[in-house]
Amino acid sequence: MTIQRIGIMTGGGDCPGLNPVIRGAVLKARALGWQILGIEDATSGLIDLDYRSPKGNRWLGPDDVRGIISKGGTILGTSNKSDPFHYVVEENGIKKESDVSDRVVANYHKLKLDGLISIGGDGSMRIAQKLIDKGMNIIGVPKTIDHDLGSTDYTFGFNTAVQTATDAIDRLHDTAESHDRVMVVELMGRNAGWITLHAALAGAAHVCLIPELPYRLEPILERINERRARGNPYSLIAIAEGARPAAGDQSHEGPKALGQMQRLFGAGYKLAAALEPRLDMEVRVTVLGHLQRGGTPTQFDRILGTRFGSAAVEAARTGHWNHMVALRTPEIVLVPISEAIADPHNVSPSDSMVRAARDVGITFGDE
Ligand code: F6P
Repeated sequence: MTIQRIGIMTGGGDCPGLNPVIRGAVLKARALGWQILGIEDATSGLIDLDYRSPKGNRWLGPDDVRGIISKGGTILGTSNKSDPFHYVVEENGIKKESDVSDRVVANYHKLKLDGLISIGGDGSMRIAQKLIDKGMNIIGVPKTIDHDLGSTDYTFGFNTAVQTATDAIDRLHDTAESHDRVMVVELMGRNAGWITLHAALAGAAHVCLIPELPYRLEPILERINERRARGNPYSLIAIAEGARPAAGDQSHEGPKALGQMQRLFGAGYKLAAALEPRLDMEVRVTVLGHLQRGGTPTQFDRILGTRFGSAAVEAARTGHWNHMVALRTPEIVLVPISEAIADPHNVSPSDSMVRAARDVGITFGDE
């Protein structure tokens, strides 16, 4: 198959490293003499070809990607509300989910695209697989700060998010020690505890609470009191937004909105409210939130993003449609998208990182 034009889009939550992927793909595609169309706001630009026109879908060249390697976010915009199989439409003043995927496929053909590079996480790869089943040619590029996508050693964005979380823990150590307080920092990651586990290890937190290991209060109180008894009257607790007590549920923010995932929020406040009455110490909560999603990508994410972008174009050139590029250190390999989405990538209780954390005295609250 001779390729003349491909599309590229970024889907789901943004993360540092998206722009390096776009740059890597554009530079390689242009070197091959292909046209590459940037699609605005994930599938929004395919559901409606005039979406945000004239600033919406646009052909990309070297000038468009100059200087973006160090920028967070995505020059193409993104959306986590544009799943074409569950698209929110309004009819007679009532909002409802509708399947507009046929429109996406029709517009893809109308644009005469030979294929599409879809940069996204678990949700975007699931959508990609369903569009593949409808006849589209897609190459996936794994993105997410959550690190919850299987088949790749790392997704880009994770490294930067962990660095941001680690910096926050470092700062919280300073003020926790000055005021003899318990500091709780709530980190992102949805149902995966990877960001929290890595940041807790890198930032030398005393307690690490993750969704995969539901916690009890007693071991946490024990750890704080034991530190106090040894002359360290402050403690640092890193808690994932998806963490939950053994006898309770995850904390959600409001009801689930149509066409969107249920938002997680409040795990840190719930924990603080349970701890404070049982401690003779002040407890403060920091929710790091979307700070973890922005900022300059680390060199790791810039390099991984650049390699993924050019490898995605190479995969298209060699006809490996319906595969996702993946890191199997030190190589970039191709895996079927169906394989990548088969199982979520979660922290296993027997993971060597969990062991290392326990070895240096970090409590998971599950003891
Ligand atoms: O998947 C990335 C992520 O940042 C999660 O860690 C978090 O739960 C979610 O997205 C937040 O999404 P939103 O940007 O819609 O608030």
